[in-house]
Amino acid sequence: MPSPDRSPAGGGDDATQPVVITQTPEWAALAAAHAELAGASLRDLFAADPKRAQQLSAEADGVYLDYSKNLLTADTVRLLVALAERAGLAHRIEAMFTGEKINTTEHRAVLHVALRAPEGASILVDGHNVVPDVHEVLTRMYAFADRVRSGVWTGATGRHIRTVVNIGIGGSDLGPAMATEALRPYTDRSIETRFVSNVDGADIWEATHDLDPAETLFIVSSKTFTTLETIANARTARAWVVAALGEDAVANHFVAVSTNERKVAEFGIDPANMFGFWDWVGGRYSMDSAIGLSLLIAIGPDNFRDLLAGFRAMDEHFRTTPFERNLPVLLGLIGLWYRDFFGLQTHAVLPYSHYLSRFPAYLQQLDMESNGKSVDRAGRPVTTATGPVVWGTPGTNGQHAYYQLLHQGTTIVPADFIGFIEPPRSVTAGQPENGGPGGAIAPPDQPDQHLLLMANFFAQTEALAFGRTAAEVAAEGVAPDLVPHRVFAGNRPTNTLLAPALTPFTLGQLIALYEHKVFTQGTIWGINSFDQWGVELGKVLAGRIVPELASGDEPALGHDSSTNELIRRFRAGHGG
Ligand code: F6P
Repeated sequence: MPSPDRSPAGGGDDATQPVVITQTPEWAALAAAHAELAGASLRDLFAADPKRAQQLSAEADGVYLDYSKNLLTADTVRLLVALAERAGLAHRIEAMFTGEKINTTEHRAVLHVALRAPEGASILVDGHNVVPDVHEVLTRMYAFADRVRSGVWTGATGRHIRTVVNIGIGGSDLGPAMATEALRPYTDRSIETRFVSNVDGADIWEATHDLDPAETLFIVSSKTFTTLETIANARTARAWVVAALGEDAVANHFVAVSTNERKVAEFGIDPANMFGFWDWVGGRYSMDSAIGLSLLIAIGPDNFRDLLAGFRAMDEHFRTTPFERNLPVLLGLIGLWYRDFFGLQTHAVLPYSHYLSRFPAYLQQLDMESNGKSVDRAGRPVTTATGPVVWGTPGTNGQHAYYQLLHQGTTIVPADFIGFIEPPRSVTAGQPENGGPGGAIAPPDQPDQHLLLMANFFAQTEALAFGRTAAEVAAEGVAPDLVPHRVFAGNRPTNTLLAPALTPFTLGQLIALYEHKVFTQGTIWGINSFDQWGVELGKVLAGRIVPELASGDEPALGHDSSTNELIRRFRAGHGG
């Protein structure tokens, strides 16, 4: 458990009146520390302390975080930890884990941690233990996945399901899509999984045009079951199935994942074929709820259990490890250090794993929908910068695109590098059980490709941190007029996350790591990380514009002159 001095009294925080963090002595101490560090370089910091890497690193169940290549010292970390304590972080962690309604604007508990709680645990919401509910749904999901995977669940004509199409958007898409790609080596390759999210009809067309409806299962995933994009795509999919197989086929070809049974029934999906979750699971925190059904069918129950175990391990680490060794807390504090004291606006996540190609996109919603806020929990304007712009792509591809700016541009971009000691098992084993070749095909005179990948991984953080001085460049015999072009300033901060291998367990750890990082930052900023009012206005305005675009008669347009003109131009050209 966190140390007792992190009590709510010490933090001075409560659910709706967060401490104004910029008015605390801890904030002032950090501002002073920042001023002191202004001229420091990572070269000097490393030279001054041979044990820096050992000191500024931490580990959680095999996930190793090296944060020594950051513009900070052990003293800075102590001050940042004191800030977290002042913000009442320990109290807020307990409030979340025990089901308090910390999502105050929606009057909801925030209990994604209950989704991976072990059977037998007790977490109460309004006096009701939600853990048995979670396991009841998991049991149904596991049974359903087994039936689809084994061919017991068939299409309406008795054919096996060959393709599962998840229809959902935002949190009902990004999580399972990211994880299905991340765990591709663990998937049953005889069943393909596709994801449709965009209301652009091209998405559903591309996902279905080469499929046989008789072998296709649609999972309509929507927490609310009212989301325009998802309902439009689901209706198109339904019409496609009905046209080919008749109305009665819907029962075999559609299941739903939602919290809204009434809407599911209205849509025409039997609630017996619905997998539920609850209002205390935020959309962007829902991939390990029934929203993960497509992933579960792809990887099977045993791997899904391992994934949940990874989440749970990181939850326990977050809840019980002192802040100075707590990975999510450290990542959160370091991010806040750059955002608020250095004024840096973006944060890159750079996985050195082909299979993590969707991870940055997943984190964009997790982080930016959670912490893209400008009022605190009391509704007061925040006095700090809040969430950064999160972005990234797999590492080596980025090296040949935007890393130039990371190394020599005028913008400093703090970055998380994520890499694995072992290559993925598709490369090492080739999944012979699924008809694969049984191992990578590589010429004997070429270094193992995983070593090539990881050499780049280590080289990049080294180059970003330490750069290359003009003297070093000149000493290499570079012509004097070229020297300035070939200097690397260094001092570009990075975190390195190094894990044993990309397994279901590790993926669960990584996702929970970032969930709790976001929580840590939101707590210190005093904001509600669990609502998303910022997405509403666009939805309302789009609802108003649809009839204006569809109307046969010239509609009376009451928008601003720009929007009116754009709509007129679209109407004049569309369909004509
Ligand atoms: O528009 C944002 C949002 O509400 C997300 O928070 C959510 O993940 C997504 O839409 C999808 O919502 P639903 O699962 O209700 O369809």
